[in-house]
Amino acid sequence: MIKVAPSILSADFCKMAEAVQNVERWGADWVHCDVMDGVYVPNITFGMPMIKALRKYTSLPLDVHLMITRPEKYVGQFCDAGADLVTFHPEASLDTAGALEEIKSKGVKCGLVINADQPFSIVEPYLSEIDLLLIMTVQAGFGGQSFKEDCLEKARKGEEMRKALGLSYDIELDGGVSPSNIELCKQAGATVVVAGSSVFKAEDPTAAVKAMQI
Ligand code: DX5
Ligand code: ZN
Repeated sequence: MIKVAPSILSADFCKMAEAVQNVERWGADWVHCDVMDGVYVPNITFGMPMIKALRKYTSLPLDVHLMITRPEKYVGQFCDAGADLVTFHPEASLDTAGALEEIKSKGVKCGLVINADQPFSIVEPYLSEIDLLLIMTVQAGFGGQSFKEDCLEKARKGEEMRKALGLSYDIELDGGVSPSNIELCKQAGATVVVAGSSVFKAEDPTAAVKAMQI
């Protein structure tokens, strides 16, 4: 079954504690936390104090997606703040292997992200090191964009490589995912999907989550 990770980027920022409790009540699997620094992406959200604060309000895994430059400087602090999974964009890092190693040394799951404008090859050298391969289906930076179907090719490649290499990383799709394209995501090999607008703006978020757990 596909795991659903609602993104709190689409929540009311004045009510983040309530948002993560809602995510749990709606029957979702992970909480997706989008960290943006205004440099790697043209938007700014929140940092490790938010992860630390939210940790007390949910027992669901916190899936922390770092859209920041030089992630190797901060991954350890996000682990210490209570992240269960930390992913980052390798082209923003000067030490991808070292950052993955540091995350793992903290007992936290690690992953890499392929942005919509990046090729699959940027993650290829690290596939045996990761627990999670996050494939963007929009250009990172904002919620509420439309799903880019052409990015699914990279998910298929991720699945192919996983089989060929005998690995077991999760494949997570992020951006514009909704019940209307969840079949396509599944066919492309997704094991986890991020859903911001399609859950938080749904009339019935519980039903929206359930519709994607296929
Ligand atoms: C975009 C973020 C996504 C975003 C998804 O840069 O990484 O996680 O919150 O939001 P929707 O589902 O609305 O596209
Ligand atoms: Zn994200």
